[in-house]
Amino acid sequence: MPFLFTTPEASKGAERHRPRRDGRPLARLGVGRGLSTFACTAAFWASACAQGLAPMPVMEEVPFITTPDNVTVSMLELAGVSAKDFVLDLGSGDGRIVITAARRFGASGLGVEIVPELVERSRRNAQTAGVANRAEFREQDLFKTDLTAASVITMYLLPAVNLALRPALLALKPGTRLVSHDWDMGEWTPDRTVTVQAPGKTVGREKISSLHLWVVPAPVGGLWCGGAGLQWQLRQQFQMVQGQAGPAADLQALQGRLQGATLHLWAPGGQAQTEWQMGPQGPTLRVVGASGAWAPWQGQTLRKANGDRCTG
Ligand SMILES: C[S@@+](CC[C@H](N)C(=O)[O-])C[C@H]1O[C@@H](n2cnc3c(N)ncnc32)[C@H](O)[C@@H]1O
Repeated sequence: MPFLFTTPEASKGAERHRPRRDGRPLARLGVGRGLSTFACTAAFWASACAQGLAPMPVMEEVPFITTPDNVTVSMLELAGVSAKDFVLDLGSGDGRIVITAARRFGASGLGVEIVPELVERSRRNAQTAGVANRAEFREQDLFKTDLTAASVITMYLLPAVNLALRPALLALKPGTRLVSHDWDMGEWTPDRTVTVQAPGKTVGREKISSLHLWVVPAPVGGLWCGGAGLQWQLRQQFQMVQGQAGPAADLQALQGRLQGATLHLWAPGGQAQTEWQMGPQGPTLRVVGASGAWAPWQGQTLRKANGDRCTG
């Protein structure tokens, strides 16, 4: 059960830093349509999302609450962090996620944090851990941060903040891994969720953390054109895909699921695996595995149609 930031128990565990040097409050987010004050509960957010309320700046700040060390390690393991990764922690607190990524997993990374003294503390912690050359910390608003350099993004924020970030996260390079401690991203269901014991957690009655992983899906919605008049019409919602495939006169229903740039498709009688790539001529889907009725597609490359028809 995630913590409720509005309960007295949560306030005890949260180190509150406000106001900022410029007098502005920390990240304040809520939902619009005339809602002003409310308890920030998972139930509230589920209902707000179901009603399609758009996140907008209104209320509720993200306090400084640390991710316990064992949970930090689990978050980085869930993302499969290695020395090849650049880890970006949005709202980095005392720097522990980026520092652990560097020290234990050999990664490099950046933490952005709005509270100056936490940034200073993070830099000192990175020095002490001997990873200051690979763990950078900046006093910076996470909403004004360039996310594109990251191969892994970690978050321990609030549901509304996750939702406000969602469009920018979805636009990242396919394959970018995102891990959120406790909070999900509404209708964008995680690719994987794990629950870990969190005896060191300073908030919540149950000392348990939920960790959610998403792999940014490639944008594959639209019409794709292959050889010999074959086409795929794909509709995409986050990582889930539905559509039709075949010659225009004999289209068969299909379903699919993306994991980053890899699209798994299945239909009655066969399945295929494709890789999305962005080339100089635009995006392509290359069939890298196919079986059953789909076997003839093996090795084909489909190109995105310019309009609503496949020509040539
Ligand atoms: C729940 S703490 C998580 C700290 C750390 N990531 C961890 O997991 O241990 C959230 C952090 O986000 C910071 N924060 C809140 N709003 C922010 C904003 N707009 N930009 C950057 N940091 C922000 C807070 O100061 C706080 O340190």
